[in-house]
Amino acid sequence: MSGGQPLFQRVAIIGLGLIGGSLARAIRENALAVTVVGADKRADELALGVELGIIDEAAGSVAEAVAGSDLVVLAVPVKATRAVLEEIRPHLGNSAVLTDVGSTKTSFVADVVQVFGELPAKVIPGHPIAGSEKSGIRAANPKLFAGHKVILTPADNVSQADLEKLQALWESCGATVLTMSVAYHDEVLAATSHLPHLIAFSLVDTLAGEDENLDIFRYAAGGFRDFTRIAASDPVMWHDIFLSNRDAVLRVIDHFTYDLDQLRTAIADQDSATLLRVFSRAKAAREHFSKMLSGQAYVTNNSQKQVTFRLQPGGRVSGKIRVPGDKSISHRSIMLGALADGITEVKGFLEGEDSLATLQAFRDMGVTIEGPDNGFVRIHGVGIDGLQAPRGPLYLGNSGTAMRLFSGLLAAQSFDSELTGDESLSKRPMGRVADPLRAMGAVIDTAEGGRPPLKIRGGHRLTGIHYDMPVASAQVKSCLLLAGLYAEGVTSVTEPAPTRDHTERMLEGFGYHVHRDMATASVTGGGRLTASAIDVPADISSAAFFLVAASIAPGSELTIHHVGMNPTRVGVINILRLMGANIEVLEERVIGGEPVADLLVRSADLKGIDIPEDQVPLAIDEFPVLFIAAVCAEGRTVLRGAEELRVKESDRIQVMADGLLALGVETTVTPDGIIIEGGQTLGGGTVDSHGDHRIAMAFSVASLRASGDIEVTDCANVATSFPGFVELARRTGIHISAQGAEQ
Ligand code: S3P
Repeated sequence: MSGGQPLFQRVAIIGLGLIGGSLARAIRENALAVTVVGADKRADELALGVELGIIDEAAGSVAEAVAGSDLVVLAVPVKATRAVLEEIRPHLGNSAVLTDVGSTKTSFVADVVQVFGELPAKVIPGHPIAGSEKSGIRAANPKLFAGHKVILTPADNVSQADLEKLQALWESCGATVLTMSVAYHDEVLAATSHLPHLIAFSLVDTLAGEDENLDIFRYAAGGFRDFTRIAASDPVMWHDIFLSNRDAVLRVIDHFTYDLDQLRTAIADQDSATLLRVFSRAKAAREHFSKMLSGQAYVTNNSQKQVTFRLQPGGRVSGKIRVPGDKSISHRSIMLGALADGITEVKGFLEGEDSLATLQAFRDMGVTIEGPDNGFVRIHGVGIDGLQAPRGPLYLGNSGTAMRLFSGLLAAQSFDSELTGDESLSKRPMGRVADPLRAMGAVIDTAEGGRPPLKIRGGHRLTGIHYDMPVASAQVKSCLLLAGLYAEGVTSVTEPAPTRDHTERMLEGFGYHVHRDMATASVTGGGRLTASAIDVPADISSAAFFLVAASIAPGSELTIHHVGMNPTRVGVINILRLMGANIEVLEERVIGGEPVADLLVRSADLKGIDIPEDQVPLAIDEFPVLFIAAVCAEGRTVLRGAEELRVKESDRIQVMADGLLALGVETTVTPDGIIIEGGQTLGGGTVDSHGDHRIAMAFSVASLRASGDIEVTDCANVATSFPGFVELARRTGIHISAQGAEQ
């Protein structure tokens, strides 16, 4: 607030303990009030407040402090609240706002109602979630609230102006303010703060009572020491908190005791599956929930960070590399492994955010999954009917594949489910799966325009249908085939053009027959899946960046190992070869039902082409980088029949055209494609990737032929499909660095 008008004239702080004292100091240091008055029954604390410059004035009584103040903050122990409210009431001005800092809100509101006869609109209950092991006014710290949360629980009739002022006060002290209902606050705090404290008090007390107690404390290792730290909290304060939040605390204790008992039974019965399931789900919880809260793609260490790629122009690429595992196959390995009978082991799993979102969602549905550990994952299949209801929405980050395939699977379960995602996924069309699933008998709600979240009702029998897909989409096909595993009779899907067939191949690998007749794939419901071993090849969609990089940068020679060469995925090689690329396919082999090869690529003079439309679905994810190849080619490249690109992680036609323009390259955008005149100079500049991983990587490759520095913004989502991209790109010879990331 420095420089601005103070928010309040006179703030009365009643109770100068750690929180009251810290708030007083923060208000004074940030000039948020003209005067800060303190009141405290303990005369010595009050005198110290003045002496240490924590308050401007010491009031002789609560009455004196309250009279004439436009903000009154109650910072007394919870148990003293009612008595102090009685003292405040006669002196509280009509325009004064009253708030508190207590840890439980139901009891505060009850006290207010008792004293005032109602909850006046100007009473705004508050709770700063900050503290310290130290207590008393001497420990007052104006930075105590910085980076912490403050919860306000205003009544419905609160004046917005009052609320905003109080919010501004806390924010000026460095806090983030959340508002919620009183009851919800108490539930949340019972679970996140009160129960952990109770467990710590109880455990430390139990162990302190053991005969070997001295040794227990002498040899106390990390875990127990954390408990003793929590158990060292103020007993009187916690006594008050537990009694004032009694109901919510009892509910959460019961829930916890039940779960603890389940763990006890699992240990007694040597039930490894339950133990591993609970522990692995808990281990992943922290990352999972922080990602969900930030509304971003699934997991990065840099969840809140904006990642920018910086590229210096020129260079050539060389060496031997292996890119991460195939995204499509990684998703499917978890899905089928989870639904199979037995244990499925996966090698080469893509530890990217998209496939990790799928993995976490299955954990949320009760599946034990070990790993991933260097691409190795062990899935303890629960059988086709073994999934359990998730406790909340399944968060799928940036992954359209996960959401569309899950919708088919979940439509057939006995339980309800909800599928949510990040900002990009929340804009993508889901009607393409919801509509045919409804025709099978599923009950699914979408948000407006068929967008996520998807709310799926469980307990509906599905019946097989025949579906002629209007768009060539492997996701829609896979969704329906997965639903078909549960449907009565035959579910068949005809595609207008061949799309990736990993679902069909993997189902066969798990012993589930998929009937294929030209463009139609069908399954008969009611069968079971048998666990299998999966070796995930390197993702040709990730290899594509390096295929183009080596093609366009003169003097390049690069080998990419173990690349998946499924015929429904090799459009990028076919198209690049038509453009004159020099790509040798070596060591062709079949691994786990999928063709694999090593690719040797050398630079070549590319020429523009009319991209054959039948190649579009086979190269659907590779167009951003193919556009870069087209810019570097001689002559015109024309893409048609690719309107699907407009509904990927971004509108890839427009976003690429905008990015190219930022580098001085003009293109002609058409409704279903683009026309690119090759041979234009790629200049330097700043490109917005719109959070689309493949756009960010495509422009990184463009730097090899650029004449100036390129900056690509909003690149965090590269981690969805290609963790370690920056490092690998640098290793091959691309002059790239990432800012805001630990790459
Ligand atoms: C995928 C199918 C493709 C592709 C996506 C992955 C899959 O989407 O773009 O990255 O794993 O089935 P569509 O099937 O919607 O074209």
